[in-house]
Amino acid sequence: MSKVKIGIIGTGYIGNVHGRIYSADDRAEVAALYDIVPEKAERTARSIGGRVCASREELLDNCDAVLVCTPNRTHREIATAAVEAGKHVFCEKPFAIGIDDAKALFETAKASKGIFQVGHNRRFAPVYSTLKSLLSEDAAHSAHIKMNRGELKNPVWTGDVSVTGGFLYETTIHLFDMIRYQFGEVSELAAYGSQHEYPELDEFSVIFKFANGSHCTFASSSDASWHFPFERIEVFCHHRTIMTEEMERILDSRGMDANFTTSTFHMAEKEERWGYKQEDAAFINSILTGEPPLVGAEDGFKSVELVESVYNAIRTGERVRF
Ligand SMILES: NC(=O)c1ccc[n+]([C@@H]2O[C@H](COP(=O)([O-])OP(=O)(O)OC[C@H]3O[C@@H](n4cnc5c(N)ncnc54)[C@H](O)[C@@H]3O)[C@@H](O)[C@H]2O)c1
Repeated sequence: MSKVKIGIIGTGYIGNVHGRIYSADDRAEVAALYDIVPEKAERTARSIGGRVCASREELLDNCDAVLVCTPNRTHREIATAAVEAGKHVFCEKPFAIGIDDAKALFETAKASKGIFQVGHNRRFAPVYSTLKSLLSEDAAHSAHIKMNRGELKNPVWTGDVSVTGGFLYETTIHLFDMIRYQFGEVSELAAYGSQHEYPELDEFSVIFKFANGSHCTFASSSDASWHFPFERIEVFCHHRTIMTEEMERILDSRGMDANFTTSTFHMAEKEERWGYKQEDAAFINSILTGEPPLVGAEDGFKSVELVESVYNAIRTGERVRF
């Protein structure tokens, strides 16, 4: 069987993470690289191989599947061009910026014969797949969630709204996708936001209600220090608390005597602990089998819809109902 030829657009941090993973996957070949800064693609080629392309068109002519690993605002346009060229597409998060772009890309992806996967890697992280399997045997009543960052200074563009679309698009969106994955569709939300350190809303408190009747509180701060765990989901079930700590471990406390069991993943390498290796393998599986991806274009669209709904709720002071 011939290998799936991978083309990477944007060979910065995450482009290299995926590139390294695919260079070790027997079913894939890193075939083509393109970056608007050619030296970056050349550096990647020296470490993992691949043809350095002088244009996006040249890249599209030399691969079967495209990884969109460029800054947030470019995703819609680049992913659209890749779908229209008949390629399978893996689009890093966020799917798009703004509801109009998200709708347009969703429509394009729906019409595609290829696979379209979105880079919400956390769905594949062992901590979160374990949580999903625990919740499949016990219903969540409510949850308490946080998704913080220490700063918006590194990389420099993380504090630039013209690049990110806003803090919620850059960081928080990962757990917005996660709450849908764990608790199902959101039926209603109320949100508050404020601005302290950066020239944008940088601190958020949101209450989500889900279609299944459960609900959660959700805090997200952009300047909270990198205090461990900067992301955590605590779920409360019948005489039971299940708590994640970043992607390091998950604690499960059942009954009334406060005992708990811990599953820890800290010995796994980061690419596996954070789910990158599994999401990349899943993309190739879907290409080879036609099986729909675990995180598709509709999930990408809905994560953008949640971000925009939270910004709208803050702007108007009104609850958003879905
Ligand atoms: N899923 C995750 O955990 C995760 C982690 C990091 C980044 N990301 C996402 O991946 C994307 C890239 O982030 P990064 O940290 O790798 O950024 P980065 O700045 O390290 O890399 C981006 C690369 O894209 C190149 N580039 C910019 N515009 C381009 C264009 N129009 N065509 C071709 N190349 C272009 C830049 O020169 C740079 O090399 C962002 O959208 C970010 O949100 C996701």
